[in-house]
Amino acid sequence: MNTANIINPDVYVQGVPHDLFKHIRDNDPVHWVNEPDGRGFWAITRYADILTVSKNYKAFSSAKGIRLEDMDAEETEARRTMMETDPPEHTHLRRLVNPPFSHHDVQSYDRQIRSLAQDVIGAVYGKPQFDFVKEIARTLPMRMLGKMLGVPDEDGMWLVQRGDALIGNSDPEFTDFPVDLVDTSAYRLLPFRSPISLELFDYAEKQANRRRADAVANHDVVSLLMRPKRDGETLSDLAFKNFFTLVVAAGNDTTRYTMAAGLHALIEHPDQLALLQQDPKLINTAVEEFLRWGTVTMYFRRTASEDIELGGKHIRAGDKVVMWYISGDFDERQFANPYQFDVTRTPNAHLAFGLQSPHKCLGEHLARLELRVLFEELIPRIKSIELAGPVERLRSNFISGIKHMPLKVEWR
Ligand code: HEM
Repeated sequence: MNTANIINPDVYVQGVPHDLFKHIRDNDPVHWVNEPDGRGFWAITRYADILTVSKNYKAFSSAKGIRLEDMDAEETEARRTMMETDPPEHTHLRRLVNPPFSHHDVQSYDRQIRSLAQDVIGAVYGKPQFDFVKEIARTLPMRMLGKMLGVPDEDGMWLVQRGDALIGNSDPEFTDFPVDLVDTSAYRLLPFRSPISLELFDYAEKQANRRRADAVANHDVVSLLMRPKRDGETLSDLAFKNFFTLVVAAGNDTTRYTMAAGLHALIEHPDQLALLQQDPKLINTAVEEFLRWGTVTMYFRRTASEDIELGGKHIRAGDKVVMWYISGDFDERQFANPYQFDVTRTPNAHLAFGLQSPHKCLGEHLARLELRVLFEELIPRIKSIELAGPVERLRSNFISGIKHMPLKVEWR
């Protein structure tokens, strides 16, 4: 088996190469992969080893980049967001942005998010055929996030397109600048190596200025972030713009593709859809299974800060170490019958948001709420559902995503 295929974006157009990951997990779980245009990396494929790396931020640093791409010192510095920092710097930044994303605070958006979901589903209700991703999953998460950020709803689609261009930066459907297909060196000092981030910086600045000009105290997340904390500290202007761009990138297509993965799995496993229709209380375990099954951000990278042993391999300081969450979430050593889609699965300590890491997803409570609300609103309206054609997948070795899913639906 050609194990280097785990980084070939064209392979993922056919689906996640689960056989290849299983082969690596079983035969050489901490596996060296040569890169065609890079210096190679260690692929960490077993659940337990992923947790070891993820916890130990001293030995495995985020500060030199979290994607496969190698960056020189100048690029790393220019493009740094909270994701590319280690404690204590990371702890400090994260504390400033954490409060509005807590489980408790996020629940207060239930009503607004539900009403958005009802609107979006309402617009396709009655149509016998439509593309689920285009009509529902692509628009909802950003508009839902927009409610929290307090940005105008009519900016939603513009933000979706910007977010897509940043993250889907290897799929020509979403960007004019796919990183491995055209020369993007002119943008190497911009976040996500994309000129789009400048437009988002600009937008964030306008949002901030609008709040500054407004005498009324607003309670949206942008206003909260701009307000000094009890100790008098505020996010700097640059840190705010960077954070805004990060959130638009991180909260856009991740939830979209989890929605698509969840619905696709329910269509392929009608017994599980029937279970959920009979017992709507299963929605919480079902959402966790959608997250595990989809594991949309397939990997995150660290860089070894010291020489260290892992799984019998000698990792040297400076080596790239890549945690393949998509492999860990199907590791038979952790999950019973991992290739069985089971909406009742408990326990289900999946890696979709990262785990036991200081970088564990900031948006996890929001994403769970968005997923729960969408399926709570959608499932009772469906009498029967099937695919009306083949699904189309994103060309990316980083994000696993169904970008088109034509459906045939009989509505209740
Ligand atoms: C199902 C949807 C989502 C998935 C699968 C997902 C996945 C992840 C993962 C795996 C990480 C850890 C990165 C690492 O280990 O270096 C992460 C971090 C992050 N996520 Fe999410 N995410 C989702 C939704 C969201 C949403 C809705 C937001 C919006 C607020 C968001 C914002 C962030 C941020 C800001 C970080 C960086 C946290 C840090 O560095 O401390 N994510 N996400």
